[in-house]
Amino acid sequence: MSGFVVAIDGPAASGKGTLARRLAAALGLAYLDTGLLYRATARRLLDAGADPADENAAATAAVALLPEDLDRSDLRSPAVDRAASLVSAVPAVRAALLAFQRGFAAAHGAVLDGRDIGTVVFPDAPVKLFLTASLPTRAERRWRELAARGYHVSRAEVEADLAARDAADAARAIAPLQAAADAITLDTTTLDADAAFARALALVRSRMAARADRFA
Ligand code: DC
Repeated sequence: MSGFVVAIDGPAASGKGTLARRLAAALGLAYLDTGLLYRATARRLLDAGADPADENAAATAAVALLPEDLDRSDLRSPAVDRAASLVSAVPAVRAALLAFQRGFAAAHGAVLDGRDIGTVVFPDAPVKLFLTASLPTRAERRWRELAARGYHVSRAEVEADLAARDAADAARAIAPLQAAADAITLDTTTLDADAAFARALALVRSRMAARADRFA
């Protein structure tokens, strides 16, 4: 369906990425992990030896971003996690990345996951999901992911890091992490990936059908 946008927001390791990728495949829509834009911006800064808290350098890196930057295999290290959270609070960085996100979905629709997709990037999206899960559950998931990639950090460290990033993402002045008023919240603490997918797909299909009726 042309221009149909599914917006999925939520904190780190809430299961957004897995769900968004599966929904996109099931619906025949493109998928964009918008966190990668902030990660790739952070990666450019770290590579250049710049301070990730330097707002001008961050804005320059965001403007210079190329699509192939998103394909790098080194965007998920703990150092990039922290630097991405810092650069994502810079208004000029967010402005530079907004057009890319809107352009990505404009022609054929897409599933996008992030922190502000339903509130800022696509406030008119017909389907908005807000994924949550308890902090210990998310820390366990992220710890496993990191261990699988060869990053050996303690669970306690991962949990403290997630809590700090959530707090920063939710407290920042611009586009903070929050559920849109019309988002449906899905708590995945006790849901496995299949159950979350089944619920989300049923919801998206009912919204699509309602929209088709409205335009019939
Ligand atoms: O989803 P993630 O962990 O890959 O995101 C990396 C960082 O980017 C995280 O600190 C939140 C930020 N982010 C954001 O501010 N807005 C988005 N739409 C996506 C991510």
